Amino acid sequence: MSYNNIISESNNGITTITINRPSKLNALNKATIQELHDALDAANKDANTKVIIVTGSGEKAFVAGADISEFAHFDVANGGKLAAKGQELLFDFVENLSTPVIAAVNGFALGGGLELAMACHFRVASDNARMGLPETSLGVIPGYGGTQRLPQLVGKGRAMELVMTAGMIDANQALAYGLVNHVTTQEELLPLAEKIASKIMRNSSVAIKGAIKAVNANFKDGVDGFQVEIEEFGNCFGTEDFTEGTTAFLEKRKADFPGK
Ligand code: COA
Repeated sequence: MSYNNIISESNNGITTITINRPSKLNALNKATIQELHDALDAANKDANTKVIIVTGSGEKAFVAGADISEFAHFDVANGGKLAAKGQELLFDFVENLSTPVIAAVNGFALGGGLELAMACHFRVASDNARMGLPETSLGVIPGYGGTQRLPQLVGKGRAMELVMTAGMIDANQALAYGLVNHVTTQEELLPLAEKIASKIMRNSSVAIKGAIKAVNANFKDGVDGFQVEIEEFGNCFGTEDFTEGTTAFLEKRKADFPGK
């Protein structure tokens, strides 16, 4: 598939999706959100893709937010639709993918950019990264899940302060908050994400799919996460990966998972 605003490349089990509008600091316009949806969907359906990495092009930004020029003239109805459509197409979508998605935050991750990083399964950052939800400085609130995922990741008080001040935190502060798992240099960012991806790839992709579903269930209203865990745990016993994993352990060899 060919894209105008992103680049999607697959290598050794990893599909790297790079948001590629550096002159606009990779701001998420409608077309980019649709392309990200399509590329993530394709990667998730591709049996050869075991891990997806999402990053931004250029040295300055992961994503500097939703494209302000596209919604500056919106009314109440259009504002609501913008948030609903974006959440459905990209933010909820990425969170619920069965393939692990790592955000490699390589610079500014603001507004929709931080919301995209937070919707990914976990985050690593380069030391020049700056993160925040500046929406209240524009007269709006975060609309792509930021008011929900930021408190889940950093706690309510820190989230409230970040949203109310519209301030930015640097990579080390984000690390201390638990918003990102690792911080490294710009040059080492993708190699680090790939190293983590290669560790993930050694394990059963079917089990990982179940684990993502069970962990996510903890954050869904009206869903009993413990019950989802019980179901997903039970399902594992019917998979070829389970037979291979347990047999390999007993035979004192490395498992070679068929991913079924
Ligand atoms: N939407 C649309 N365009 C954006 C954008 C966004 N969220 N963020 C940056 N851009 C554009 C700028 O308009 C500029 O375009 P231009 O060269 O055609 O004028 C280009 O990207 C470069 O940005 P610039 O502001 O000149 O870079 P900077 O280094 O001076 O500042 C930021 C960097 C990130 C601090 C600044 O761009 C910024 O505050 N962006 C908006 C962040 C935001 O509020 N995001 C939440 C949106 S809901």
